[in-house]
Amino acid sequence: MTQDELKQAVARAALDYVVEGQIVGVGTGSTARLFIDALAEIKDRISGAVASSEDTKKRLEGHGIRVFDLNDVAGIPVYIDGADEINVEMHMIKGGGGALTREKIVAAVATRFVCIVDRSKLVEVLGTFPLPVEVIPMASAYVTRELTRIGGTPVLRDGFVTDNGNLVLDVKGLQILDPVALETRINQIVGVVSNGLFACRPADVCLLGTGNGVQTLTLD
Ligand code: 5RP
Repeated sequence: MTQDELKQAVARAALDYVVEGQIVGVGTGSTARLFIDALAEIKDRISGAVASSEDTKKRLEGHGIRVFDLNDVAGIPVYIDGADEINVEMHMIKGGGGALTREKIVAAVATRFVCIVDRSKLVEVLGTFPLPVEVIPMASAYVTRELTRIGGTPVLRDGFVTDNGNLVLDVKGLQILDPVALETRINQIVGVVSNGLFACRPADVCLLGTGNGVQTLTLD
């Protein structure tokens, strides 16, 4: 199976986690886009969605799915999103598409986080994929120096501005042995909006697309 077919399989499998009559939190990226297209087929069975990016909002609305402002919903039973890397502890690197901050906010509100990835995203140690860090523009040089001090090599994502009007530094060269500690440490650098480590709030379920079908990984 191709990588696209594996993404398609997990996107469809995620429909089983959508709660009837409720709001769905929706992530960003190519796998999330496939999920949105699948969600369109059952759109009459949900009350609507909360989007983690402008791109996702546009695609949901294009399918006629009502998009709610996060401030107008009391809760989100499930958030469904892809990842750039995930380990067996359900810690992830996200933000390849630059939507990390809004993704982290919607994930924080959600009761359950279902991560949908193809097999290539499952890793033993996080950090081969450069860690995205969203920064306030005036702090980018300072944050670059601080990230270098902790052993990374930050590279400014060329010509990219987030939905929040900020910049992204992609940090190469990190071997992330303690994701919770590193997520917390980077968040303490003044000028950082958020970072792409999703370890303090890991996924609850990972739907992993493999050549032998969709595998379900959980922490239990
Ligand atoms: C976007 C993300 C995506 O979930 C991540 O980049 C994976 O994307 P894809 O499904 O295209 O491989 O975090 O900010």
